[in-house]
Amino acid sequence: MEKLTIDDLQLKDKRVLVRVDFNVPLDKKCEVTDDRRIVESLPTINKILQDGGKLILMSHLGRPKGRTQELSLLPVAKRLEKLLGKPVKFVNDCIGPEVEKAVSGLKSGECLLLENLRFYPEEEKNNPEFAKKLAGLGDIYINDAFGTAHRAHASTEGVTKYIQQCAAGYLMQKELKYLDMALSHPKRPFVAILGGAKISGKIDVIENLMNKVDALLIGGGMSFTFFKSMGKEIGKSLLEPDKIDMAKEILKQAKEKKVNLVLPVDVVVAAGATDDAATKIVGIDNIPPDMQGLDIGPKTLDIFSAELKKAKTVVWNGPMGVFEVKKFATGTIRVAEILAGITQNGATTIVGGGDSAAAVTQAGLEDKLTHISTGGGASLEFLEGKVLPGVAALTDK
Ligand code: 3PG
Repeated sequence: MEKLTIDDLQLKDKRVLVRVDFNVPLDKKCEVTDDRRIVESLPTINKILQDGGKLILMSHLGRPKGRTQELSLLPVAKRLEKLLGKPVKFVNDCIGPEVEKAVSGLKSGECLLLENLRFYPEEEKNNPEFAKKLAGLGDIYINDAFGTAHRAHASTEGVTKYIQQCAAGYLMQKELKYLDMALSHPKRPFVAILGGAKISGKIDVIENLMNKVDALLIGGGMSFTFFKSMGKEIGKSLLEPDKIDMAKEILKQAKEKKVNLVLPVDVVVAAGATDDAATKIVGIDNIPPDMQGLDIGPKTLDIFSAELKKAKTVVWNGPMGVFEVKKFATGTIRVAEILAGITQNGATTIVGGGDSAAAVTQAGLEDKLTHISTGGGASLEFLEGKVLPGVAALTDK
């Protein structure tokens, strides 16, 4: 890594300010329903505590408009305490006298979590004064929040201007290692499988990956805009009318570049995405006008499976259908199972965060794939070939 990492730093007795991504889902009782992001940050947290650092953790949670009790990080502090098996102090703010007092009272090997950074609009505005106040809390800074590395916010970018040593934590390093490996020196064949509802969020990813992969498999809602651009009848399937020309252009580019771009050949259709809907499997030339495609069909799965089984590196981003509804989850779950199988046979399989990560968890296969990213938007931007501001801002080695 070209940037400083946690292993380059002397942590003992230092105030170590760490940006984590504890933006985790909470239920109505404000209990954490999925703690993967917290668990994934434990190696960095444990290292700092074991080395005798004074750990100050900061994160955002949700997208609050001002201060709200529902988006307090207190429940996250409680979950972290359980996972660590030691006390986690919590302070009701992220800047100001109360926070400064809590920080100066921290002993080596102790841990403090600050309140939600986004209670201050200055955080997302990357306000220099706010960033300076955050920076004043630490002697050194570590960014382990890969999930937020695509945001140039005060706690991810601004803060680095006021602290001399800014390093990547273990989770950040792990995420960058796998994603970079896939994009820069993948073992071939390298296959990408993309899905999700909309083509609009994936255009840059498709264009970037097209130059790198041996095969590009496309499923999910976005495939119907491609079909429409080919003049097919797609019934009531999801369509982005303003992206039809773009889809046409992508298909043209794929042809010119001789990219093996594979679209579904059959789909599961129904009148609506409900578990009691009557379904049919039809070829993509036979989608009834009053129905919508909601999952990929079995023939498509066979074709995708054959491509994936040849692969030595796979990147997957986006579900193959409406996987939240059991009836239309088969394609997505099957892709997760195929990836688990090829991982066992030595392939490297990397899953972007967000929906595809949720699908892998739903399939109970999270331990069977090589790497499941904790960043939805961040991994997408990385796959688009963009520089992540939270990484760029770290100190060069
Ligand atoms: C995420 O969940 O993708 C990150 O925590 C970033 O959150 P944001 O999209 O609200 O900036």
